[in-house]
Amino acid sequence: MPVEHAAATIIDGKAFAAALVERVSAAAGRLASSTGVTPGLAVVIVGNDPASQVYVRNKGDTTQRAGMRSDTHRLEESVSQAELLALIATLNVDSGIHGILVQLPLPAHIDAAAVIGAIDPDKDVDGFHVVNAGRLAVGLRGLVPCTPLGCVMLLRSELGDLSGLNAVIVGRSNIVGKPMAQLLLGESCTVTVAHSRTLDLPALCRTADILVAAVGRAEMIRGDWIKPGATVVDVGINRVPSRDPARAAEGKMRLVGDVAFAEAAAVAGRITPVPGGVGPMTIACLLANTYTAACRAAGVTPEALDG
Ligand code: GUN
Repeated sequence: MPVEHAAATIIDGKAFAAALVERVSAAAGRLASSTGVTPGLAVVIVGNDPASQVYVRNKGDTTQRAGMRSDTHRLEESVSQAELLALIATLNVDSGIHGILVQLPLPAHIDAAAVIGAIDPDKDVDGFHVVNAGRLAVGLRGLVPCTPLGCVMLLRSELGDLSGLNAVIVGRSNIVGKPMAQLLLGESCTVTVAHSRTLDLPALCRTADILVAAVGRAEMIRGDWIKPGATVVDVGINRVPSRDPARAAEGKMRLVGDVAFAEAAAVAGRITPVPGGVGPMTIACLLANTYTAACRAAGVTPEALDG
């Protein structure tokens, strides 16, 4: 007999992110009135990649709306690595700037690892510097990558205590998969990181109480890979042709995640949509990290920001 499942609760990341931005904004206002320090974020973008342009504009706009200082440095595609490193050196010693973000990807002639490594770890609001990766791995206070931080905030607000839950993370990137594993270990989950060489991925996914999809392959994770009632967090943002053939012929695209949403929503207990799930949390957590970095620079303890 077929087993029937109620449709999943859709996790409203957009609303959660908006509330988080409000809390950061209010906390930043209190920091400014008590210490005179207004959190400042410098975003560096190299070249004209259209997706990066959109991300950077959104970051700048949201930072300003939260009442924080936002500087955007736009560099030519042809900029030398030495010039980029010189800009970072200037930002590292600028006391009005508490967060530095270099938008990725960088042009091929620039060594991204060298650029990230040049950022003062205490201003590394992306949490990509090896010092911050190391701090996260050993449980020291640092700055945590924004996307996994946002995922864990959503999970805690939806599920409360995560301890003892089986978490499967599909994807082992330095930006999402690995820090996500560290954060969920910190929440006392039993964590498995799957990747392109994992054997019988569907069976592994079916063991997950929490399934995090961060592979960058459109709709790869199917409904029958999901344990009934599981919580599914879809980090993927993939552009695929519009469903309407006429619009697709005009080149119209739509956004989908790494999870086949309709199938998954019929089985899961909770699921993040794409768009409107994890994506908005990334920018909100960037502001949260900038606020946190500003508090530490000012020698005050940041207020708790998770709702
Ligand atoms: N490019 C795509 N996502 C990100 C991100 O989170 N941070 C940076 N710096 N670049 C990105």
